[in-house]
Amino acid sequence: MNTPIYTSSAFGYLDTIENIYPRYYNTPNQEVVVQKLCALEQGEAGLLFGSGMAAISTTMLALLETGDHVILQRDLYGGTHHFVTIELKRVGISYTLVEEPTVDQLEAAIRTTTKLVYIETPSNPLLKITDVAAVGSWAQQHRLISVIDNTFASPINQNPIPLGIDVVIHSGTKYLGGHSDLCFGAVITSQPLRDRIYATAINLGGSVNAATCALIERSLKTLSLRVHQQNKNAQAIADFLQQHPRVQQVHYPGLTDHPGYDIARQQMQGFGGMLSFEPAVEGSAGAEQFMRKLKVITPAISLGGVESLICAPAKTSHIKLSTEERKQVGVSDELLRISVGIEDTEDLLEDLQQALVMNND
Ligand SMILES: Cc1ncc(COP(=O)(O)O)c(C=O)c1O
Repeated sequence: MNTPIYTSSAFGYLDTIENIYPRYYNTPNQEVVVQKLCALEQGEAGLLFGSGMAAISTTMLALLETGDHVILQRDLYGGTHHFVTIELKRVGISYTLVEEPTVDQLEAAIRTTTKLVYIETPSNPLLKITDVAAVGSWAQQHRLISVIDNTFASPINQNPIPLGIDVVIHSGTKYLGGHSDLCFGAVITSQPLRDRIYATAINLGGSVNAATCALIERSLKTLSLRVHQQNKNAQAIADFLQQHPRVQQVHYPGLTDHPGYDIARQQMQGFGGMLSFEPAVEGSAGAEQFMRKLKVITPAISLGGVESLICAPAKTSHIKLSTEERKQVGVSDELLRISVGIEDTEDLLEDLQQALVMNND
């Protein structure tokens, strides 16, 4: 029922079809996980990396060349934004950040040198929804490669490949690993694109070790159970926060008044375990004070684990952005993001309820 852990970095080669080596991304433990992820995402082939950022950076460096142009949505994971604006720029790859990747905005951004369009939906941390099928078919019409960061949705809630997207990326550190104890990334795509990414991946060398692969294999057995409970808890929290007088704004695609609700309902099997909101507090200090009152939900970075975590994006995922850039993407100092875990729903609601009681109530 479990793949043995092949700790070896040296494999016999006389009787094998291809040479096996950890940095060739083809050890038994790497391959078994990739097969499972391909089945989950309905992809043909894939690669596992040592982190989500290794998957993202390797994919972009493999598919783009100096002089190329890439279109990305502005509302991106902070690390991806940083990679594009610092590293891609440094090797002469230009980019355009569009406010929302609608067909009109993509048409306005395209150049003769554009090669790739990159989206993230639901987005971090405002849970904005992009129409995945619309981006996929627009990219196909213009012969561009479409790439999605599917981390927030997980393969249980959203499968972009059948919707027309070429490359799906995950920070497996999040839902795929699911227990806040692993760091890895994954790319799932077609065989030809996998081979192009692979050609760069072996040079950059960001592969993942056998012990981590074995833990990923174990984690995938409960992915569906975990995500379904996370979906249920997140919906209950979003509904609760939305009607709470001490909460200004709630961002969750499962709320009927969320601008992306209709599209999310069409393209997602569940609305996910991520949400963000603004409690009625003053600045970063007020947000921190609120988090310190929580007893079940833990202030910690990262997401997608079985335990509920909370953080202020202005001080965590988006800390590398300038104040001006943060304002542009709508990340206020008071904004708090919850990665909802699998706890009992009532425990989570009670925790938020007691933390929302202010000193002068
Ligand atoms: C949406 C998203 N994509 C990518 C990453 C990067 O993944 P990693 O930290 O595994 O490199 C993160 C990390 O927080 C993320 O939230």
